[in-house]
Amino acid sequence: MNPITLITLRTVDSTNTYAKQNIKALTLPTLIIADKQTSGKGRYGKSFYSPDKTGLYMTLLFEASYNCELITPAAAVAVCNTLEGYKIKPQIKWVNDIYIDSLKVCGILAECFFSNGKKYIALGIGINLTTSEFPTDIPNPGSINIDCNKIELASKISEHFFLLTDAKTILSEYKKRLFVIGKDVTYTKNSTEYSATVKGINSLCNLIVCRSDGIEETLSSGEISVKMRL
Ligand code: BTN
Repeated sequence: MNPITLITLRTVDSTNTYAKQNIKALTLPTLIIADKQTSGKGRYGKSFYSPDKTGLYMTLLFEASYNCELITPAAAVAVCNTLEGYKIKPQIKWVNDIYIDSLKVCGILAECFFSNGKKYIALGIGINLTTSEFPTDIPNPGSINIDCNKIELASKISEHFFLLTDAKTILSEYKKRLFVIGKDVTYTKNSTEYSATVKGINSLCNLIVCRSDGIEETLSSGEISVKMRL
């Protein structure tokens, strides 16, 4: 693999958007880091609160070369591996959120796109480092509150991520930190809300749940947002 090119930006709308807009001019893989995002994006069209300097807002841009279904789980494991190096004990909420002590400290947004017939991934990761005040509509936000160098943190996450190429390892490392197993959740499918208990994940990192009416269902992260009581 080529060395990772680093781009640091003062302010940007979204590091993922920047990556997609500049794909033709960039040498891959590229790591883009911004101090602040004015339109940080989350999943399901939500925004990601990205105030100046108090968070790590990064996008790792690379050509897609393996199983895209496992990119988000691999990124979650890479973030956990890195934070554990700082003596933090993160946990994963399926599929893309990292929590510490029941507070969400990190979100992941992997966007797949094509340019000149090639497939690329803009892997966006946002970590609240020292943000102390959040908009009231963000549920259970928190910060990791460690003294760290942002570029070093982002580089370590990227290195961990690129080392995770084996599906079995990704899934077993992911499961170890997944805290939803055995928990009661609710989700909405085709405008109906269901209550269910989480049984586990399958080889594509889909969530296997048993509904309160006894029916077992497999939920794909692209379609369903799962809510749970923390
Ligand atoms: C989520 O919580 O649903 C995902 C949040 C992902 C946020 C990161 S911050 C860096 C990158 N740029 C974005 O606009 N979003 C991701």
